[in-house]
Amino acid sequence: MEREAVLVGIDVGTTKIVALIGEVSRDGALTIIGKGPVAASGLKKGVVVNIDQTVHSIATAVEHAERLSGWKIDRAFVGVGGQHIEGMNSKGQIAVSGANREITREDISRAIEVARAVTIPSNRDVLHVLPRGFVVDGQEGVKDPLGMSAIRLEVETHIVTASATAVQNLSKCVQQAGVRIDELVADPLASAEAVLSDTEKELGVAVADIGAGTTDIALYTEGSPFHTTVIPVGGNNVTNDVAIGMKVDLQTAEDLKVKFGTCDLLAVDTEELMTVTMIGDDAGRDVSRLEMCEIIEARMRETFEMIRGELEAAGHGLSPAGLVLTGGAAQLSGITELGRDVLQMPVRVAAPTNVGGLVDHLLTPAYATSIGLLQWGARSLAVTDSGRYESAPSMGGLGRIRDALRSIFP
Ligand SMILES: Nc1ncnc2c1ncn2[C@@H]1O[C@H](COP(=O)(O)OP(=O)(O)OP(=O)(O)O)[C@@H](O)[C@H]1O
Ligand SMILES: [Mg+2]
Repeated sequence: MEREAVLVGIDVGTTKIVALIGEVSRDGALTIIGKGPVAASGLKKGVVVNIDQTVHSIATAVEHAERLSGWKIDRAFVGVGGQHIEGMNSKGQIAVSGANREITREDISRAIEVARAVTIPSNRDVLHVLPRGFVVDGQEGVKDPLGMSAIRLEVETHIVTASATAVQNLSKCVQQAGVRIDELVADPLASAEAVLSDTEKELGVAVADIGAGTTDIALYTEGSPFHTTVIPVGGNNVTNDVAIGMKVDLQTAEDLKVKFGTCDLLAVDTEELMTVTMIGDDAGRDVSRLEMCEIIEARMRETFEMIRGELEAAGHGLSPAGLVLTGGAAQLSGITELGRDVLQMPVRVAAPTNVGGLVDHLLTPAYATSIGLLQWGARSLAVTDSGRYESAPSMGGLGRIRDALRSIFP
C-alpha cells in the first residue's frame, strides 16, 4: 500500500478518551497503526470541567498510541462534544466577478464567506461552514459550479457553532498535552462519517450517537448535513436511574444494565431474579430483572422521544433512510425495536466499518466518533488535494496534514 498521509484523531468523551493514529493510502483506505483508549476524568456531559485531569487523560491516550505505532504525535483532528453544539443553515449570494462571467474558486469562496457572515454571537465559535449546494442564476441543485457561466452565484451552507469557552477549554487541554490542533470537528459529524453510507446521506438519514453523557444527532439529505445538535442525555442517565430505582451503587447498576438490561420488556420473564452483592452486603440480595428493565425502557423511551422532537424540528419526512444508532449506549439490547416503536421509521445499530489495521475492540458502536475523526481527516485531505474550495475555513491543508507526525526514529 502506498502511504498518502498519516493522521491522528482524538475523541474526548465523557467516559473515555481515544487517540488513534491512522494511515491513509492513495486510494483512500484507512489503516489504524496506533491507538490509545483510556478512561476519561475531568469531563461532564462531553465538556471539560477539570483542566488538569483532562490534560492527564489526553496525554496518557496519546502516549499509548505513540508507543504502539512508533510515531510521535504532533497534531490531531479533535472531536468537540457537548450540548452547546448547534447547527444552522445560511445562504450567501454574490455577483460573479470575472469579465467573462465564469465562476472561479474565488467566487465560490466569496459566496461561502457571505453565508458565514451571518451574525454569530461573540460567545460562539464557528466549527464548520459546509457548502450544501449551489444555485447558479436560479438553477438549484448544482454541486460543483466551478467554470459554469453565470451572473449570480448562491451557496447554501450548514454552519456548526459551539460555545467559545467550551472550545477554549478543550483546546487548552489538547495543547497542554503537547498536541496541536489540525481541526476541531463536531462529534455528531465525526460519528456520521463512520456509520452512514453515501447512499443514505444522499437519500436522507439521521444518525444518533448515544454516548455516556450526551446524544449527538445529525441529519443528512442530498449528501450533506442540514441539522446538527446534541442533547444532554445518554447511557449514564440509564445507569443513574437503575442505581436509584434498584438501590444499588453506580458500578453495580452499570454491570447489571450491561449484563441483564433490555428495552424489550416482552423478552423478560416476570419471575426472573438477579442476585446483587454489594460492599458490606456479603449475602447478596435478589432483585427483579423486570423491575430494572422497566426503568431502562422508560428512560430510553424518553430519549427516543427527545430524538423524535429533534427530527420533527428539522422537518417531517426528511429521513426516508431512517435512523442509524451508534455510540456505546446503542449496544443496549432491544434498542432497535424500541426506536422503531417510538419513531415509526427504520432503525438500525451501526459500528464503524471500512477500516483496517489494529482494529481489535474498535469496530463497535462506542468508537464511531473516534474512527469518524480519522475518516473526516482523510476526506478533508482528499478535498484539499483536488483543489476545491481551498479557502473554505473548515478544510485542513494537505501540507499541514503531511507534517502531522514526526517519526521518533529519525
Ligand atoms: N453492552 C452495553 N449495553 C448497554 N450500554 C452499554 C453497553 N456498553 C456500553 N454501554 C454504555 O455506553 C456508554 C458509553 O458510551 P460511549 O463510550 O460512546 O460514551 P463516551 O464517548 O465516553 O461519552 P459521550 O460521547 O457522551 O461524551 C455508557 O453509558 C455505558 O453504560
Ligand atoms: Mg462519545
